[in-house]
Amino acid sequence: MTNKLRYFVANWKMFGHLKSVNSLNKVINFKKKNKKAKNLKIIYCPPFTLIYPFIQKLKKTGIKTGAQNCNFGSNYGPPTGSINAMMIKSLNCEYVILGHSENRAKGENDNIINKKIISALESKLKIIFCIGETSTQKKRKLTKKTLLSQLSKGLKKVKNKKNILIAYEPVWSIGSGIIPKIKDLENISNYIKLFLANNMKFKNPKVLYGGSVNPKNISLLNKIKNLDGFLIGGASQNSDKFIDIIKKTFN
Ligand code: 13P
Repeated sequence: MTNKLRYFVANWKMFGHLKSVNSLNKVINFKKKNKKAKNLKIIYCPPFTLIYPFIQKLKKTGIKTGAQNCNFGSNYGPPTGSINAMMIKSLNCEYVILGHSENRAKGENDNIINKKIISALESKLKIIFCIGETSTQKKRKLTKKTLLSQLSKGLKKVKNKKNILIAYEPVWSIGSGIIPKIKDLENISNYIKLFLANNMKFKNPKVLYGGSVNPKNISLLNKIKNLDGFLIGGASQNSDKFIDIIKKTFN
C-alpha cells in the first residue's frame, strides 16, 4: 500500500504487432476509473514499430510512451537501421530506455550509453537508465562496484539530472523468475540514491526495480519503501497481470 508516486514502466521488448494496441483498452479503462491514483505513472515502451500507434491510442489518457533504445547524434545521418532521439521525440514520445543489459550484451558499452544519454536529453527525452550486475559479478561480490562504475561512466558530463530515472535491473533476475532478497534490494536502492545525491548532484534521485516483477512477488517488493516503481518485461505484455501489479501496489 502506498500514496507515493510510483512508476510502472512496461518494456515490451521484441514483442507486439498492430493488433496489440487493443490490449491497451483494459489499462486505459483502469487508469480512467482510478482518477484518485494521481500518483500512478504508467509508461509503455513498445518496439519502434508500435510507438506511433501507441501514442495515438494513449492520447489524453495520461499514460506515456517510451522507446526501448535510440542511437546518439541529433541530426539525420547514415547509420542504416538506426533511429535517434530527435526522431523519437518528433512523434511526441516522451521517454527512452537506455543501457538495458540486453543491449549491453550486444556490445553497447558505458561510453556509447553516455553519448546516447546526452543526445536524448538534448532532444528533450526523459531517460530510464538501466544498470545492473551479472550473476558472475554478484558471485564475486562486485555488485556495488559495478553499479558505481555504470553510473559514473554513463552519466559523465551529464548536466541536467532532473529527467533521469534509474532502473536497477540485476541481469540474473531478468526473465529468470528470481528476484533479489528484499533486504539486499533495499540496501542497493539506498546505495544508488546516496551515490547519486552525494556524488552526481541529483536533487531527488528516483530508483525503479526491474527483473521478474509479477503479480505474485509484487506484494513482497512493495515492502521496499525506497523504490519509486518498477520496470516490467514479460508480465507487462498481459494487461490483466500488469493491472494486477499496479492494483497490489496501491490497494
Ligand atoms: P522481465 O520482467 O521479463 O524479467 O524483464 C525485465 C526487464 O528486462 C525489463 O526491462
